[in-house]
Amino acid sequence: PDSTMGPPAGAAGPALAETARAKINLHLHVTGRRADGYHLLDSLVVFAEAADTVTLAPAEGLSLTIGGPEGGVLAAEPDNLVLRAARLLAEVAGRPLPGAALHLEKRLPVASGIGGGSADAAAALRALDRFWGLGIGVAGLEALALRLGADVPVCLASRPARMAGVGELLSAAPRLPGFGLVLANPRVSLPTPPIFAARTGPFSPPAVLPEAWTDAAAMASALRELRNDLEPPAILLCPAVAEVLAALRALPGALLARMSGSGATCFALFAEAEAAARAAEALPPAWWRWGGAVRAA
Ligand code: C5P
Repeated sequence: PDSTMGPPAGAAGPALAETARAKINLHLHVTGRRADGYHLLDSLVVFAEAADTVTLAPAEGLSLTIGGPEGGVLAAEPDNLVLRAARLLAEVAGRPLPGAALHLEKRLPVASGIGGGSADAAAALRALDRFWGLGIGVAGLEALALRLGADVPVCLASRPARMAGVGELLSAAPRLPGFGLVLANPRVSLPTPPIFAARTGPFSPPAVLPEAWTDAAAMASALRELRNDLEPPAILLCPAVAEVLAALRALPGALLARMSGSGATCFALFAEAEAAARAAEALPPAWWRWGGAVRAA
């Protein structure tokens, strides 16, 4: 047990659950590089209904258990981002707090470009802010979230957003139509730093986006003019990404196929969530695959 933790509080209430949704980068332009090596980005981010879950129950000290179909590789990890988030929040609260037994139900593949770890950390911050009655709220947690990773701030609200800076500058996304997504990962986990390091060539300008897209086809044709600048280096280091993209492009009804984040998960955009769910079943069963809806704004 952590020494900053007090005894379990009887008044702390029942178990809390927070959903940690998959983050999809509809485009990702690398616009520059900071002196510290971090890259400046411009990205339109949406969240799929595909998700991990973080639950919390009163306990003595801080602890984390991990389950779920994708939890295996994390079980051996001593310092999961969820625990680091919990310790960081306890530290800034600056007073003794009741302990919490956290549980992470992992359904999103690890190190796969859809921000699973970041979404888990964001969900833990939201759950503990409520549990501890700190009242910091999503906006107040953003600076803290950034210390855990560049993608954690956007995952706090888990709603469509435009990301700039290294991920800390969040602004409104265009008004989006309803659409469906297929996600596919070739079951290769791809650490982010080597992908950024392998990126070459000039930096991209930020995208020019409209205020709104009225339908999925219009959105897809605008997105086709944009790109994920990390796709070429990811394909270089992980050729299976090209296979996944080809399979997604071949799905009937796919409007656009692209890699998300630093990969290896790729997505295809569909006009309807139901069509996306059906299409996902046609992909190789050896891959991690998912089809369904995007979370509405
Ligand atoms: O912030 P996060 O832990 O997700 O970043 C992992 C690594 O990815 C960083 O150490 C850095 O090498 C790279 N990165 C980057 N520019 C970003 C985000 C991540 O270069 N905006």
